Amino acid sequence: MRVFNFSPGPAVLPLEVLEQAQGELLDWQRSGMSVMEVSHRSQAFERVAAEAEADLRELMAIPADYKVLFLQGGASAQFSFVPMNLSVAESVVDYVNTGHWSHKAIAEARRYCKVHIAGDAGGNYTRAPPQSELRFSVDAAYAHYTPNETISGVEFGYVPQTDGVPLVADMSSSILSRPIDVAQFGLIYAGAQKNIAPSGLAVVIVREDLVGRARPETPLVFDYKSIADNQSMLNTPPTFAWYMAGLVFKWLQRAGGLTAQAERNRIKSQTLYAAIDGSQLYKNSIARDSRSWMNVTFTLNRPELDAEFLVQAGHAGLQGLKGHRVSGGMRASIYNAMPLAGVEALIEFMREFERRHV
Ligand SMILES: Cc1ncc(COP(=O)(O)O)c(C=O)c1O
Repeated sequence: MRVFNFSPGPAVLPLEVLEQAQGELLDWQRSGMSVMEVSHRSQAFERVAAEAEADLRELMAIPADYKVLFLQGGASAQFSFVPMNLSVAESVVDYVNTGHWSHKAIAEARRYCKVHIAGDAGGNYTRAPPQSELRFSVDAAYAHYTPNETISGVEFGYVPQTDGVPLVADMSSSILSRPIDVAQFGLIYAGAQKNIAPSGLAVVIVREDLVGRARPETPLVFDYKSIADNQSMLNTPPTFAWYMAGLVFKWLQRAGGLTAQAERNRIKSQTLYAAIDGSQLYKNSIARDSRSWMNVTFTLNRPELDAEFLVQAGHAGLQGLKGHRVSGGMRASIYNAMPLAGVEALIEFMREFERRHV
């Protein structure tokens, strides 16, 4: 029996996509092999790669002067790829600190150049700072932020304006959740395991003028230019995850693209926040204008009930609700592939649990 999986990543994948992959697992495109066993240099796989890129370009309306790269190393590797490719040791680079993941990106960048903190949500990181609080350096090599902090559930409701400094975004947990204007960004990166595919893959969307600036000592497999020049096949790529990404992109297209997906995500998140706000037992601590559409965090005002809540939720077929170890409480990750029915089942369970404990 399939459960509703609220894990932050690896995360739920669309059932249709899993069924398609299952259906063609043993004999993919009449090759007599699974896609996992096929050479990445074969024409058939090259088609998978090219179609995945074309479909992602179409979904996100990626302008022609951007490269789309499919990489290994997850989003964390991009914490170092970005400074290695876009800065020199003397560079100043701007970072906005909104919590756990931006903090990690900052720590890594400090190993390569001078980091200026252009904004800090401060306190216990329960909001995205408004534009008026951000102070970007005029001479920064780039400015980095995390549009959606997966652990706390804090999401920017706007794209920071940087006065011409290339904006770099770690979109791991919000990519494809709504339409964005890619032209506002110099570089977007995302680990795949939330809204794109199984883990093992990261996607980078980078404006062409930022490609070809890597430091001389940058390993070839980390250099955006050598990766782009080799269609992301400088070495053996994670072929299965790439294939799955392609199936997910087609699933999104069939379901009306990102405008339709955004509407579903808005409804799912608003329904869940409304249920939390309307209860006596649950509380979300994030500023209203910074509440994430993808990761809805909440605490029980009787923390002694946490363990029981999770056990009972499990019995009700609701998995992966435990908050991150650094923040505690609960977190429902409701990525694109989580249907509204999953959110409704969660709300029904929460109401019933509350009735039994007041
Ligand atoms: C916003 C964000 N950035 C980076 C990461 C790290 O991703 P990876 O495990 O792919 O390195 C995560 C993982 O959850 C994340 O949510």
